Amino acid sequence: MDFASVDNDADYARLAKRVDGLDVGILINNVGQSHSIPVPFTLTDESEMENIININCRGTLKVTRIVAPGMQSRRRGLILTMGSFGGWMPTPLLATYSGSKAFLQFWSTALAAELKPDNVDVQLVLSYLVTTAMSKVRRPSLLIPSPKPFVRAALGKIGAGEHSGVGSHISVNVNRSMHIDIRNRALRKAAREAKKN
Ligand SMILES: NC(=O)c1ccc[n+]([C@@H]2O[C@H](COP(=O)([O-])OP(=O)(O)OC[C@H]3O[C@@H](n4cnc5c(N)ncnc54)[C@H](OP(=O)(O)O)[C@@H]3O)[C@@H](O)[C@H]2O)c1
Repeated sequence: MDFASVDNDADYARLAKRVDGLDVGILINNVGQSHSIPVPFTLTDESEMENIININCRGTLKVTRIVAPGMQSRRRGLILTMGSFGGWMPTPLLATYSGSKAFLQFWSTALAAELKPDNVDVQLVLSYLVTTAMSKVRRPSLLIPSPKPFVRAALGKIGAGEHSGVGSHISVNVNRSMHIDIRNRALRKAAREAKKN
């Protein structure tokens, strides 16, 4: 499916149908696009800007929204999302890509705290350059691996402990409890009002 398209609800519906009933243990949110070359935000081609957000953010959210409920009900699963140094360090001339990866970082950390009680692990892979089509770097070097060793190293760290990219565990958990409380009160209020009417 084309993740750049916003007119692809039928594709997501097909995906949901294929996933339904399958024991999906691992979801890897790898799909991503960056700017074709570094570009000032004010000169960014509108379609490139929209594609980056649709692919990196909308696509990842919609696929996870389809796959995660099954993992919750089976009480096991792993959701890995490709982050980027560009999302960790604000990156001029890649502003839209940088923002999209920062979005994924906050989202992934928040989702991890939500799904932990259901025994579903959610992690973000905070990657620097890798020799792929996206980076346009051809030769591996000390700091820039080729995809195979990168993937081997990244997968080798699964289960070796958590590193939450943003926010300490304490503050994320305080935030979680606070919003569970606000939600429960709002639901009780809505139920009272529904009863009155
Ligand atoms: N390479 C790096 O230096 C680097 C650094 C940090 C983070 N990352 C992240 O790592 C992930 C993988 O990137 P990569 O380096 O392997 O780049 P890549 O070689 O350009 O691969 C991107 C992947 O996304 C898919 N994709 C892109 N646009 C799509 C669309 N509109 N619809 C469906 N699929 C689409 C591609 O599918 P096709 O192969 O079918 O085109 C490919 O599988 C991305 O999330 C990227 O942001 C990469």
